Amino acid sequence: MLICIENIEDILRSKFRKQVVDQGIKDAVKFLQQWLYLSSQVTRLHGAALARVQIPDIQYLLAEIAYGECGFGNKDKIHSKLLTNLINQSVFACFITQRLDSSVVHLFEETVIGLSNMSQDEAIGFIVGLEAPAYQILQLLKEALVGVGISDIDVLKSEYFVIHYDVEKEHQKSGSEAMDIIMDSGFELSKIYKGGDQAINFLIKMMGDA
Ligand SMILES: [Fe+2]
Repeated sequence: MLICIENIEDILRSKFRKQVVDQGIKDAVKFLQQWLYLSSQVTRLHGAALARVQIPDIQYLLAEIAYGECGFGNKDKIHSKLLTNLINQSVFACFITQRLDSSVVHLFEETVIGLSNMSQDEAIGFIVGLEAPAYQILQLLKEALVGVGISDIDVLKSEYFVIHYDVEKEHQKSGSEAMDIIMDSGFELSKIYKGGDQAINFLIKMMGDA
């Protein structure tokens, strides 16, 4: 398979589709529990990647993504809080918000450590890979939320969804902007792809069995 800058995100998305989307959600409660946890911790991945990046323009992009996740200057709009508000509309909310399996926590902690030790271009690739399936994930999330008894309309009009349909577009744009800058700086596409693939593997392990 020939990897070029235009199709790197498509390759990552197609792997995610095969391994997660096509399998469908077996357990909506577990899926939401894991996604809520990831949502509450995801800025640590941006921070770990940021720690590896020496190029100020890319530092800016990563900080911007993390700042957005943290509510763009409004603590009440932190994305994991908006998701919790939405989940609280479900009668299963207490099961979704309870402590999750320690193996998921362990996987996350290992991933943060791994990311902190990546090369700059691999770390950028990881964030690109993390953002690449954002719309597929939103779709799965919607399915899971409907699965725990929240109506389609309530999901779509929720602040979490309204923000994400807009924001993910921006994140993906930032991801490919970062790739353009990286390529202009003479980094290797194969390393970006390697980082992206690790992000997809992480997401597959995180969501794949729920
Ligand atoms: Fe978000």
